[in-house]
Amino acid sequence: LTEEAGPGSWDALPSIPLFSDLPRDAFIQLFERCPLRRFGPGERILAQGTHGDAFYVICEGSVRVFREEDSHRQDLATLEVGAFFGEMALLSGAPRAASVESVSDDTQVLEISAAVLATLSRSHPPVAKALKKFCRERLLANVMN
Ligand code: CMP
Repeated sequence: LTEEAGPGSWDALPSIPLFSDLPRDAFIQLFERCPLRRFGPGERILAQGTHGDAFYVICEGSVRVFREEDSHRQDLATLEVGAFFGEMALLSGAPRAASVESVSDDTQVLEISAAVLATLSRSHPPVAKALKKFCRERLLANVMN
């Protein structure tokens, strides 16, 4: 496997709670064609307000999620290895609700396209259900903040 075509070694992948119930074969089959993207410190991964057609799982490093209003910046969360982001726009069709930037020197995220998510949702409905649950919780947290 090359770097652009999924993680170099599946055994080196961190545990990802969202996918913990996926059998290893299904996991590899689904994600082997997903690109692994790398970002340096402070580098922008997602921009608030833009269209989204993928979500991301953190394989290495950490990211910061923040909202930008006028020139004011509101931090929402720091996400670490095993967490994911970008699911909101994908599930709702709405623009990205926040911006996301890399915190670490070498943040690596697995990019999961809408098409791969659709396949996953058909073959493993509980994963899609769990993703929706997280999405609802984040939406609620943002409304309450
Ligand atoms: P999306 O709206 O596609 O793009 C920005 C992402 O930031 C969003 O999906 C979520 O994955 C993430 N996000 C938004 N609000 C929060 C929050 N309160 N806590 C953690 N992550 C969030």
